[in-house]
Amino acid sequence: MVNFIKNSILIVDNNPNNSRVLFYILHEYGFKVSVVKSGEMALEKLPLIQPDLILLDVMMPGIDGFETCRYLKANEATKSIPIVFMTALSEVEHKVKALQLGAVDYITKPIQVEEVLARVNVHLELRNTQINLLKEISDRRQAETKLQQTLTELQQVQTQLVQSEKMSSLGQLVAGVAHEINNPVNFISANLIHANEYIKNLLKLLQRYQEYYPNPVPEVQAEVEANELDFLINDLPKLLQSMEFGAERIQKIVLSLRMFSRLDEAEMKKVNIHEGIDSTLMILGYRLQTKPNSPDIQVIKEYGNLPLIECYAAQINQVFMNILINSIDALEEAAKNQKIFTPSITIRTEVINGDHLTIRIADNGSGISEDFEHRIFDPFFTTKPVGVGTGMGLAISYQIVTEKHHGSLQCVSKLGSGSEFVITIPLKQSISLEQK
Ligand SMILES: Nc1ncnc2c1ncn2[C@@H]1O[C@H](COP(=O)(O)OP(=O)(O)O)[C@@H](O)[C@H]1O
Ligand SMILES: [Mg+2]
Repeated sequence: MVNFIKNSILIVDNNPNNSRVLFYILHEYGFKVSVVKSGEMALEKLPLIQPDLILLDVMMPGIDGFETCRYLKANEATKSIPIVFMTALSEVEHKVKALQLGAVDYITKPIQVEEVLARVNVHLELRNTQINLLKEISDRRQAETKLQQTLTELQQVQTQLVQSEKMSSLGQLVAGVAHEINNPVNFISANLIHANEYIKNLLKLLQRYQEYYPNPVPEVQAEVEANELDFLINDLPKLLQSMEFGAERIQKIVLSLRMFSRLDEAEMKKVNIHEGIDSTLMILGYRLQTKPNSPDIQVIKEYGNLPLIECYAAQINQVFMNILINSIDALEEAAKNQKIFTPSITIRTEVINGDHLTIRIADNGSGISEDFEHRIFDPFFTTKPVGVGTGMGLAISYQIVTEKHHGSLQCVSKLGSGSEFVITIPLKQSISLEQK
């Protein structure tokens, strides 16, 4: 029986004869053996020796074997070293005490060589197996953690892939549909202009007939009554007008869809942002002025001193338009519920940190509910009635500001007291590219 691994054993015994015999036998069998004479010395030398097993005498001057065992078991670094007591005391209570203190075994003196070797080997083998098992468990835990991490990463990548795939095919679909609708809609609205003209002419002709032939023959008179001619004459222009509105609305939606799916790559130019805001306000003039049931909307401008800004002007104007229309909608909504109400939109511009521009558009309208504040930038998200909202305004604006201009678009809102949209873009697009 040769010990190939060369396990190390510490003998703690004040009896030199006993130690010598043990040292000789164990050494012979290939163990690395160290000997100390007391419990104190054992504790002192332990970090140096780092034994795989301790043979511990009970009766020693100074701290005895039990006490030494207690120390070793209380210490994190030594508590797993197997301890085998050696005792001349054959009393059962000592054996029990030794085991209770955490010893793995005991040997009764006088020592039997075969017994010592057999017990030492069993316990070393157990210890080695235990160490290997613990290592394997910890290796497996590590592997498991790593696997879990990899799995999480994979899932994230997959979600992103699916998402970007969805968005890109959605974009293509939208662009395709918008393109297909564009022609027939233009066709309808162009022909509506002619239809209007022709119908006007026909009505004029009819009027002339009525003037010059006030008393038609009974057959014609009957036809006039059967067709409720007065109503028809009155209703026809209205009908045409609503058809025009409808066509115009489809054109607008198509335009929005095309903008969203493939923002037209116009040239980047240096522009006066205030001119852009003012022209947008002018276009929206018809919606800022008095309507039967709502007061005029006050527009308060607090323009800062701005340099010319490098941007895609048409797109930035589109952003102003979308945000302002939303504000007007929110103000009209608020006006419905309040008797005394001064609707207003405040537009503030300023340069911040010397290299960015902020444009704040605030209204004192209906505000946005916390429940869906996080969704307002999602495509197709709208709280407006069917046919009024498309849910595209803010999604397009967000894309224009963040992707096309490397800026940010944020919203601060409180339900019932209003909203503020903050656009931040670099003064020069070259700065933002250099920073990347
Ligand atoms: N100034 C605002 N005040 C209150 N709600 C707003 C404001 N701006 C946007 N919203 C909310 O965000 C939603 C999405 O806006 P948008 O993308 O422009 O789509 P749409 O105007 O067609 O509904 C609106 O339906 C509205 O609920
Ligand atoms: Mg909108």
